[in-house]
Amino acid sequence: MAEMDVDGKSNGEVVKAVPCVTAKRTRVQRISERYLMDEEDELEPGSFSRVFEAVHVMSGEKRAVKVVSKFPGVMPPRDAREADVLSVVDHPGIVKMHEVLQTADNELVLAFDLWKTDLYSELERRHHNRNRLTEGEARVVASQLLSAVAYLHERDIVHRDIKPENILLNGSGKACIADFGFARWVGSENEAVGTSFYMSPEVLRALPPLFVHRQRGQQLSAAETKAGDLWSLGTVLYYALSGRPPFLGQPYPPAKRRALLEQMDAGPSFSDDRWRDISEPARDLVRGLLTVDSSARLTAADALRHPWLRTTLPPPIPDNEAIAATAGSCRQEEFQDEAPTTIQHFPQAVKCGA
Ligand SMILES: Nc1ncnc2c1ncn2[C@@H]1O[C@H](COP(=O)(O)OP(=O)(O)O)[C@@H](O)[C@H]1O
Ligand SMILES: [Mg+2]
Repeated sequence: MAEMDVDGKSNGEVVKAVPCVTAKRTRVQRISERYLMDEEDELEPGSFSRVFEAVHVMSGEKRAVKVVSKFPGVMPPRDAREADVLSVVDHPGIVKMHEVLQTADNELVLAFDLWKTDLYSELERRHHNRNRLTEGEARVVASQLLSAVAYLHERDIVHRDIKPENILLNGSGKACIADFGFARWVGSENEAVGTSFYMSPEVLRALPPLFVHRQRGQQLSAAETKAGDLWSLGTVLYYALSGRPPFLGQPYPPAKRRALLEQMDAGPSFSDDRWRDISEPARDLVRGLLTVDSSARLTAADALRHPWLRTTLPPPIPDNEAIAATAGSCRQEEFQDEAPTTIQHFPQAVKCGA
């Protein structure tokens, strides 16, 4: 199934051959042959697609169905790549794809296990705990995500858009990475892509200077591209622990980008009161992931050995009610005077890339 491109070398690093994988697609006239779903079953709106809760006709199973695009004639390669990458991975921390359909209308339809919510929505919901996970929950989520990223990087796959919206939760302590729309096999040269707030300083620097459609920026090495996923995981962990992304700037115009790079150089701040009850080992892992020098940043394998993750993990949260119960133990009275924050109050993150 896999043809190979030639090996590439960059800055002395050897980049393995990039496999050209095409996910098996089943041709159908229309989605309703396989899935029952209605307009009102649409889940959180994505940026490039529509995702619905649907029932698989043959098994009666509930699934999430992602309708990626509808272009007459050609399917943009970016959209097909999500299915291609997901067709070769199998890890509990990566969303499981059941099948790929192509309709007569040229829609590409990806069917996944249905998860309860995404991390962004969950944090948004948690007014009672200042839009945070508890430290124990964050630790369980972090270790699952890191082991998924280690699995991907061992196979030379990069995600390139790790952010709370793309992390799914089942409400019982399990987490997985979804939305492989920007994922690819890493090459010797890689386009800078990602979403502001979560993108690494090297990705930010490599973006084209102006926000012009199809303008190319600088290319990143394989090592920098992998390290970019770890930075993004660091921003997600900071967000989950404190209810806020660490760096809220924007990549455009250039003056804003410079200001954002300065924030990153200064390092993540733990001065906000929300960090008061977060342990030093948790902060230390965040610092290790948000290391500006990409060659000194923790890799996924390094991060999995971090002491914060090796301390005995609390048992998984047994059910959905337990989340409310855990939140209740978070000294609610202490937050009573605080106006409820909502992530919607932050500026909008910008998705960048081809
Ligand atoms: N398997 C799933 N189970 C439950 N919700 C999902 C699933 N996949 C996606 N979603 C929801 O749909 C949203 C958009 O899906 P995503 O794959 O991120 O699309 P996009 O590429 O358009 O951002 C996610 O942020 C999440 O809220
Ligand atoms: Mg998404």
